[in-house]
Amino acid sequence: MSERGYGRIMAEQEPPTTYEKTIDALKLTGEILWTIVQIWVAIFQSIYAVFFPMEPKDVSGEIILISGTGHGMGREMALRFARLKATVVCVDINPKGNQETVDMIKQEKGKAFRYECDISDRAAVFALQQKVAQEVGSVTVLVNNAGIMPCRPFLETTEKEVRLMNEINVMGGIWMLQAFLPPMLARNHGHIVAMASMAGMVGSKNLVPYCGTKFAVRGIMQALAVELRQEEKDYSGIKMTTVCPYIVNTGLAHNPKIRFKDLMKPVEPSDAAEQIVNAMRRELVEITVPGDLWYSSYKFPQLLPARAVAILQDFTKTGVEPHAPNQFE
Ligand SMILES: NC(=O)c1ccc[n+]([C@@H]2O[C@H](COP(=O)([O-])OP(=O)(O)OC[C@H]3O[C@@H](n4cnc5c(N)ncnc54)[C@H](O)[C@@H]3O)[C@@H](O)[C@H]2O)c1
Repeated sequence: MSERGYGRIMAEQEPPTTYEKTIDALKLTGEILWTIVQIWVAIFQSIYAVFFPMEPKDVSGEIILISGTGHGMGREMALRFARLKATVVCVDINPKGNQETVDMIKQEKGKAFRYECDISDRAAVFALQQKVAQEVGSVTVLVNNAGIMPCRPFLETTEKEVRLMNEINVMGGIWMLQAFLPPMLARNHGHIVAMASMAGMVGSKNLVPYCGTKFAVRGIMQALAVELRQEEKDYSGIKMTTVCPYIVNTGLAHNPKIRFKDLMKPVEPSDAAEQIVNAMRRELVEITVPGDLWYSSYKFPQLLPARAVAILQDFTKTGVEPHAPNQFE
C-alpha cells in the first residue's frame, strides 16, 4: 500500500475521546490490580499446600495407560496403580517383561491388560489407541514413561543412538499425547504424567543428546499446559505432572558416578514409583525424585551466576560414566 493510501485510512479513524481514553485507562488499572491479587492468592495457596497438601485423589475408576511397563519404574508404577484399584494398561516394546508385570498385577488380584507397541512408531501408537478404546475403554490417565539413555561422550554418540533417543524419548511421547489426549479433552477429564529427568533440568557429561530429549519433555509439558489453559473451552479437568528423577536403580544408568553417596543416594525403583504415584494423586505440576533435589539442585542454582553453578557442579562430580560401545547397535 502506498504511503498516501495508508495515510488516508488512518485519517478516516476517529481519534478516541478523552472519556474513552479514561475508561480504557481505568479498565487496564483494574486488570493489573486483579492480576496482582490473583498472583498473591496463588503464592499463598502454594505455601498452604506445602503444609497442608491436598488429599491424594482416588484413582479407582481410572484407566491408566503406562508406557515402558516391562521393567523399572514403569513396572513399579503399574503395580502401585493396580493396588489402588485402577485398571492398568501395560504397554511395552518387550512382551516378555511386560507379561511378567501383568502376571504380577494379576497375582495381586489387580486389573491389567498387556499391549505390545513401539511408541516411536506413530501409526502403531494410533492403532494402539483404537484397540485399547475398544477392548478396555477410554484411557483417562497417560503415563509417558518409556525412554532410553545411551551414555557416551557427545562426539562418540552414534547417529543411531541420537535418532533412537529422540524418536522414543521425545517423538514417542508426542505421538502418545496426540493419540490419547483427544478423548480426555472431549470429557474434560484426564491426567498426563511425563517422565523427564534431572538431566532435563541441568546439563550432564556423557548425556548431551539425552539431556536435550529430557529438556524437550519438560518444554512439551509446559507448552501443552499453556495451550490448554488459553483455549476458549474449559480444559481445567486435564491435570499434568512432570517427573524429574535423579539416578534410579533400574539399570538404565549403567555406571553412575556419585561423589557424596550419603547425600545423593540412587533411589530404588519402588521408592521412586511411590513418589511419582503420590505426586500424580496430589496433582503436583512438577517434581524431582527425591524431592529435596528440587531446591538444592534446581531452584537454588538458578539464583546463582553461571560460573558459580559450574564450580558447584565440578565439586559434586555427579553424573554417569560412558556405556560400553555398540550397546544400541
Ligand atoms: N533410571 C534412572 O536413573 C532415570 C533417571 C531419570 C529419568 N529416567 C526416565 O524414566 C523413565 C523410565 O526409566 P527406567 O529406568 O524405569 O527405564 P527401564 O530401562 O528400566 O525401563 C524402560 C522400559 O521402556 C521400554 N521401552 C524402551 N523403548 C520402548 C519403545 N520404543 N516403546 C515401548 N517401550 C519401550 C523398555 O522395554 C523397558 O521395559 C525413562 O523415560 C527414563 O529416561 C530414568
